Amino acid sequence: MGQKPIKHQIFLCWVDVVADKTTKLAVEKNRDMGWKGILGFEYGIVQAPLGPDIAGPELVAAVANAGGLGLLRAPDWESPEYVKELIKKTRKLTDKPFGIGVVLAFPHKENIKAILEEKIAVLQLYWGECSKELLVEAHNAGVKVVPQVGSFEEAKKAINVGVDAIIVQGREAGGHVIGQDALISLLPRVVDLVGDHDIPVIAAGAIVDARGYVAALALGAKGICMGTRFLATHESYAHPMYKQKLIELDKTEYTDVFGRARWPGAPHRVLQTPFFCDWKSLPAQENESNQPIIGRSIIHGVEKEIRRFAGTVPNPTTTAVHVDS
Ligand SMILES: Cc1cc2nc3c(=O)[nH]c(=O)nc-3n(C[C@H](O)[C@H](O)[C@H](O)COP(=O)(O)O)c2cc1C
Repeated sequence: MGQKPIKHQIFLCWVDVVADKTTKLAVEKNRDMGWKGILGFEYGIVQAPLGPDIAGPELVAAVANAGGLGLLRAPDWESPEYVKELIKKTRKLTDKPFGIGVVLAFPHKENIKAILEEKIAVLQLYWGECSKELLVEAHNAGVKVVPQVGSFEEAKKAINVGVDAIIVQGREAGGHVIGQDALISLLPRVVDLVGDHDIPVIAAGAIVDARGYVAALALGAKGICMGTRFLATHESYAHPMYKQKLIELDKTEYTDVFGRARWPGAPHRVLQTPFFCDWKSLPAQENESNQPIIGRSIIHGVEKEIRRFAGTVPNPTTTAVHVDS
């Protein structure tokens, strides 16, 4: 972020990450070591399910076509027919396998039912526990289950349930972060915990290029999951102005100013925009729920009001309705 010119295609992003000379051997070796065999993807690169709708069919299909695991993002409300549409739209753009991410803290039962009916390759889970029951249901439908965890305890529970792979998220990660451990300390602990279990560990958090990939492999990961790196690609559904700001600005800060009501206890790394600098000392009792509406966005087909401090990632439909602060 910041230092490099915008990469306008997944392909270029790929060349940078995968084909870098220093990485090539490691990636080839990693491929032979089992990632492909277990989940069926060419490279150990996962594109995170960027919420609320930034990882859409175009991005996911582009990643799948390039040999990685692309993850759609399901709506935060029950909308099984819409979920099926998302999957169908993606299948029109790729004949490769792909997955979908579900945030368990939001309503999701009907969405997961639709996902299993569609027999998509991977169900990624976040912000909640994967039950044995869900795992059995998914496996009966031929769907692999891959939770993203942010702590040793969460990883332990996922391994005990018998998940198919684990994404380990360090606190460096973009988006709302679930844990407080740095990737470099958490990742090797989870790798040791997995031990002989056939569960590939995937590293997430501030990995943006070949060096990060190699570092993750050195710590015992079998693959990497990147989110921020995919935000400013041509195929991402983020608003063009947001993509541009990601490239232009290079200072970030860790904060809980945004989304306190919807994502309690979930700080995240944000760009130091003038708006953020003005409001970064927001009193602790304030949150987005009683703030003025500053914009509207059509998210997964539904028009939503965006309140100040909501921290919702803008998509191309987002319009501002109140911008005096
Ligand atoms: C804008 C944005 C939205 C995200 N939304 C989700 C989400 O809905 N579900 C999820 O599992 N992870 C989400 N993440 C976190 C990613 O899964 C991943 O942990 C993170 O992007 C890795 O760090 P990086 O952004 O430095 O690559 C999001 C990340 C970003 C940047």
